[in-house]
Amino acid sequence: MVEILKYPDERLQQASKPVQKFDDDLHRLLDKMALTMYAAKGVGLAGAQISYFLRAFIIDIGAEDPRHRRLFEMINPRITRREGKIVWEEGCLSVPGYTERVNRAAFVTLEYFDRHGAMHSLDGEELLSVAIQHEFDHIEGVLFIDRLSPLKRRFLKRKIAKGIQL
Ligand code: CO
Repeated sequence: MVEILKYPDERLQQASKPVQKFDDDLHRLLDKMALTMYAAKGVGLAGAQISYFLRAFIIDIGAEDPRHRRLFEMINPRITRREGKIVWEEGCLSVPGYTERVNRAAFVTLEYFDRHGAMHSLDGEELLSVAIQHEFDHIEGVLFIDRLSPLKRRFLKRKIAKGIQL
């Protein structure tokens, strides 16, 4: 378990760089990310959240949806399809204690590489679709609170700054 960067840490706004080598260092990082995510009871974690600014994130929505217990390791991902609309109450390990409704695409297709460098394509809906978009945002330096209306965002940021739980 390592430290998870918390908003308003500016490093969370930094875009991550592509993974170049699918080597032991990457595998160790992915293992560390999984330990950290499960210990924090999250459903997703991006490398950037533990200060590794690489285009890699993991998702296991099993904690919230036991039908879909599976660890995905997604490296150098690309969203190749976004369709429909869904509103989801999101939270984030980097914005602990806060949730808010966010507009997302209902269906996405993600192309990504696994830890061995093999390419995969995955269709996501419901929570899996939302988690993919949320984690993809992290590698672009975007948090879910950046997706809120300006009014809501200002309100939420003021609450967070004062340390008030909503
Ligand atoms: Co997050």
